[in-house]
Amino acid sequence: LFGQVEAFAGDPILSLNDSFKADPRDQKVNLSIGVYTDEKGRIPVLGSVRAAYERIGFAERPYLPMDGHPGYREGVQKLVFGDRHPAREAKRIATIQTIGGTGAVGIAADFLAKHTPGRAVLVSDPTWENHHGLFQRAGFKTATYPYWDAKNRSVNFDGMVKAIEAAESGSIIILQPVCHNPTGVDLDEKQQAALTDVMIAKGHIAVFDMAYQGFGESLEADAAFVRRYAERASCLVANSFSKNFSLYGERVGGLSIVCRDADEAERVLGQLKLAVRRSYSSPPMTGGLLVATVLGNEDLRAQWTREVDEMRTRMDSVRKLLAERIRSLSNEVDVGFLTNQRGMFSYTGLTAQQVDAMRERDGVYLVGSGRMCVAGLNEENVAKVAQSFVDVSQA
Ligand code: LMR
Repeated sequence: LFGQVEAFAGDPILSLNDSFKADPRDQKVNLSIGVYTDEKGRIPVLGSVRAAYERIGFAERPYLPMDGHPGYREGVQKLVFGDRHPAREAKRIATIQTIGGTGAVGIAADFLAKHTPGRAVLVSDPTWENHHGLFQRAGFKTATYPYWDAKNRSVNFDGMVKAIEAAESGSIIILQPVCHNPTGVDLDEKQQAALTDVMIAKGHIAVFDMAYQGFGESLEADAAFVRRYAERASCLVANSFSKNFSLYGERVGGLSIVCRDADEAERVLGQLKLAVRRSYSSPPMTGGLLVATVLGNEDLRAQWTREVDEMRTRMDSVRKLLAERIRSLSNEVDVGFLTNQRGMFSYTGLTAQQVDAMRERDGVYLVGSGRMCVAGLNEENVAKVAQSFVDVSQA
């Protein structure tokens, strides 16, 4: 019956994570998947989340509404847009709880396929691979706009703007507002403003994918691009709590659509509920309750903010540490990119062959594109990673 079913080649990130787990070597280092681990190499259980667990206990588990837990949805809006955002005050943002950030992008793609079908979809080159996949699954063709300037290891802003300007009016443009995955380089404020002008002039639809809020500069500063954009135009914003709450397996995310007015937002919310009902009916509860509890309580939220700050500070310091270690081994390798980039990822510029060599010879796992998850570095493994990096760079 299913003889014609093709084998799955595997996901470039998740399959690599499986290979890492299966690797019998003791000294292996996982710098592949975007998961934050602490100085001891463990995925932290945040104190704020632990306290929320104690509060929610294990009570009954009815179905949540299709659009999710009301406190959670409120928490998403306040965190992403800020409490006093004009779009929020005008009740023109439709927000739902989603199954992680991936679920948010997936529902956004389904929603756009139904209500704005046939548009061109442009994602950054490079991007998180699943952006292509999720929009293609919804029926779109995807193309790219330039983003990475390999020579200067920065954003190719001119190329990006030119491509977005040249795209057909009303195209769907996927943007990562902070801690770009996989490159770790973001637009500055001036570039954000210039891009916003082009997007609005062309009548493009912006889909922001914000999976790393708090890992760039701060929870507030990282949302600035999205907030300013939403003051000027309608847009979609997918957000994830996987990383900043360290709740990967709970699948906690949100999708917000900023609309023209409250009436439109109500209709859009209805369509989002329908999309959810047809897909998985309603989101899961425990993760939703945890996030809603932390975001809805002043003390827990303050504690959580400090914990996010700690994770970010640690990532910044291991970036510096790796750069120092590499420098101490060789003056030939340019390591400036490590500290210029931010968030969980560094785009190293290593080739697929060099990445293979690091994995096979030294048990150091990076993604084939040369992306390194710096959140997996610590005092114990940094020397090994530096040595491996220098060896393959100078081979
Ligand atoms: C990543 O890019 O490593 C993470 O976002 C995990 C994933 O789902 O790919």
